[in-house]
Amino acid sequence: MKQAKVTVIGAGNVGATAAQRLAEKNIANVALVDIMGGVAAGKALDLMEARPVELHDRMIFGSDDYAISKDSDVVLITAGLARKPGMSRDDLLAKNAQIVKGCVESAYKYSPNAIFIVVSNPVDAMTQLTHQILSAKGVPNNKIIGMAGVLDSSRMAFFIAEALNVSIKNIQPCVLGGHGDDMVPVARYTTVAGIPLPDLLPEAKIKEIIERTQKGGIEIVNLLGTGSAFYAPASSSVEMIDAILNDKKQILPCSCMLTGEYGINGVYVGVPTKLGANGIEQIMELKLSDTELKDLKASAESVKTNVAKMNELMKATV
Ligand code: 2OP
Repeated sequence: MKQAKVTVIGAGNVGATAAQRLAEKNIANVALVDIMGGVAAGKALDLMEARPVELHDRMIFGSDDYAISKDSDVVLITAGLARKPGMSRDDLLAKNAQIVKGCVESAYKYSPNAIFIVVSNPVDAMTQLTHQILSAKGVPNNKIIGMAGVLDSSRMAFFIAEALNVSIKNIQPCVLGGHGDDMVPVARYTTVAGIPLPDLLPEAKIKEIIERTQKGGIEIVNLLGTGSAFYAPASSSVEMIDAILNDKKQILPCSCMLTGEYGINGVYVGVPTKLGANGIEQIMELKLSDTELKDLKASAESVKTNVAKMNELMKATV
């Protein structure tokens, strides 16, 4: 049977860590592509030299030449600038839009049938940009996905497990919306071994966890001083890729193009989806309260505003 192939664009911290996990978990061979070809080739070689110790069966190649990405099953886009302390994800809009556009166009040439997963920030807008480019070439919505919900949910799950001193395996978190400060962690749909979170923690503690989840990215940016989170973003991306390549039909929150679900249309926003061999195979619609739905719609509006701003900026630079 043919081994799966993933192209990871961007050999920075997220990209290199994703490449490492993809290979070490025997999920896929990896083409690591970066504008800094030496960095991509060097990290790929370093990871391959760890292979006799890690004992996995996958290959990692690195280059600045997209030719190595040919015939990938999945393309993971991590390229772009990361936040510095004091910056919001939206501050990256103009620069990263140019970078992501180039990556998508080059990768598509070599892998027109791939499923594209975008990690670069602001991720919902960058995924919508990817959609603008690829849908014009006939790529369907289910093959253009943004990574954020898995990361945000993972953060929420960790904070809950810590607060309750229970196994992380018991936590089923639920975070909806865009990957910004107005994301929508939903306590009512978050369960611990089937028990709704509001039955286990006082309201004030849940509020604290929700706020920490919403600010999870900047907490790491401030601690690191330079660069942003990468271990959890890489793990989250790899979980999505594993669900796709192994046709797991796994329900994971992803940024996807909504076409009427939740009363939202024409924008990339995070909701639970079923991930399998065809990418997003189903969008799950939760029954939300008026407040939850209002918050989700507000978050979708922020993404729409950002996308409009991005398109203006792109027009200005053409
Ligand atoms: C984060 O939330 C990098 O946006 C990413 O850490």
